[in-house]
Amino acid sequence: MKIIVVGASGTIGQAITEVLEKDHEIIRAGRNGLDVIVDITSVQSIKKMYEQTGKVDAVISAAGGAHFASVSELTPELNEIAIESKLKGQINLVLLGMDYVNDGGSFTLTTGIMMDDPIRQGASAAMANGGVKAFVKSAAIEMPRGIRINSVSPNVLQESLDKYGTFFPGFLPVPAKHVAFSFKKSVEGAQTGQNYEVY
Ligand SMILES: NC(=O)c1ccc[n+]([C@@H]2O[C@H](COP(=O)([O-])OP(=O)(O)OC[C@H]3O[C@@H](n4cnc5c(N)ncnc54)[C@H](OP(=O)(O)O)[C@@H]3O)[C@@H](O)[C@H]2O)c1
Repeated sequence: MKIIVVGASGTIGQAITEVLEKDHEIIRAGRNGLDVIVDITSVQSIKKMYEQTGKVDAVISAAGGAHFASVSELTPELNEIAIESKLKGQINLVLLGMDYVNDGGSFTLTTGIMMDDPIRQGASAAMANGGVKAFVKSAAIEMPRGIRINSVSPNVLQESLDKYGTFFPGFLPVPAKHVAFSFKKSVEGAQTGQNYEVY
């Protein structure tokens, strides 16, 4: 299969690429993407990416930013980061990519554990994760041409403990490889409308 991985250079994106590249052709995308450049906060940039890649069998998003702050410090402007990137950015990859995905292909987006298991300073990211999860579940029932859509909800990664460990006290971190296998299940399996929890 020909698969776009948005965020391929990231911690999760690298693990996904490693797991899938043996059997598939991977197009590595990101703002500094090795194969194609895309900024998911820009509709124009997403359109340009798809024009460059042409038709593919699967689109994976392992990208999407959010601002971590307590709700009393969160401003509408800071909350916009998650809305523009993690929420709208990922959903626009689907809306604008529909005509570029072959019959029976798939989209797989990324959510995260804090929407179900709250952490301090995680409300904005949780909002975006919940929106993505609800979009996936709802969109799945009317995707055209047998196209499937799922999301993957990772716990904090072992590989990200230096960066995020203090936000997740008492959470048992998971290896990036386990998360990558849920993306593999989404791309190569038959299910749709799922949010795979890697907790
Ligand atoms: N790491 C964890 O423990 C963990 C746990 C649960 C959920 N998640 C979620 O999983 C996703 C990936 O996490 P990660 O830790 O792998 O992140 P990461 O290591 O920071 O990598 C992010 C990747 O996304 C790309 N990217 C960032 N902003 C982008 C944009 N606007 N447009 C296109 N590409 C963009 C980056 O490449 P460029 O800089 O080249 O654009 C990079 O390849 C995030 O949504 C995160 O919230 C992570």
